[in-house]
Amino acid sequence: MKIAVLMGSPRKKDSYSVCKEIEKQLSLYGDNIEFDYIFLNEFNIKSCKGCCLCFQKSESDCPCREDELNSIKERLFSAAGVIVASPVYAYQVTGQLKCFIDRMSYLFHRQEMVGIPTLIVVTTDGGGSKQVYRYLKMAMSGWGMDVVDNIQIVSPLYFENRSQQGVFEFNERYYRRINNKLIKISTKFIERLKLADRKTPTIYDIFMFNCLRSKTYTSNADYEYWEKRGWLNKEYFYEIKLNFVKRIFGRFMKVLVCMAVARYRKRIN
Ligand SMILES: Cc1cc2nc3c(=O)[nH]c(=O)nc-3n(C[C@H](O)[C@H](O)[C@H](O)COP(=O)(O)O)c2cc1C
Repeated sequence: MKIAVLMGSPRKKDSYSVCKEIEKQLSLYGDNIEFDYIFLNEFNIKSCKGCCLCFQKSESDCPCREDELNSIKERLFSAAGVIVASPVYAYQVTGQLKCFIDRMSYLFHRQEMVGIPTLIVVTTDGGGSKQVYRYLKMAMSGWGMDVVDNIQIVSPLYFENRSQQGVFEFNERYYRRINNKLIKISTKFIERLKLADRKTPTIYDIFMFNCLRSKTYTSNADYEYWEKRGWLNKEYFYEIKLNFVKRIFGRFMKVLVCMAVARYRKRIN
């Protein structure tokens, strides 16, 4: 079973060490788990030119042809699970990761990674990890992935003998707490990877699904993609029994999104 690690950091330090620890935890389960570390800084990924051809027509019409995005996509799409890792850079993900997410934005329209169990790892010197996590959760959910859990780590509190000096220093209690959390999220991740059935979507997932479907009203490419997969009139990306509250919420969201699109169209016409 392959786990792809989408590594936003350009170096093999804090975020990498956390992913290695998760790898160690997963190896305790004795399964044949292979980690594929994708260091985005090692690839030539051109910046999005903003033409929107991938949304309107197809991702194969993207003008940034001579780069290495496709080789990353192959490695990512062939994984059973994904870990997205990033340090906080200026209160956001790193530029390398943002550039990659921008180039893969067509996935917000035509989801190719539905249900793939995903962990989010964020490291920081002190601040910004919550908003980076929230951003990554929204992005990965928007790609249809199953965000199982996350870990946010204040690196100077967690790593002993760190060369970088800062406000915080190593704290034994924090270290133990984070290690316990690493064990917990690794267990949750492996259980989800082994689950034969797909996860039951949360209210957040149903909200996202209905917002994402709104794109089919404005793009033929998206409409065809969703229609081919039978998602247009579904409650979620895949067949799953939802409880009464989630079903009603989904229907309410569908009507709300339809009304919002109709109002928007009226305004611009
Ligand atoms: C360019 C740059 C910007 C950073 N911005 C922030 C920041 O906004 N907030 C913060 O708490 N830490 C910030 N950091 C610190 C890193 O998030 C932190 O050291 C992290 O543990 C590094 O992880 P890595 O070793 O995986 O790259 C920044 C570091 C760099 C190099």
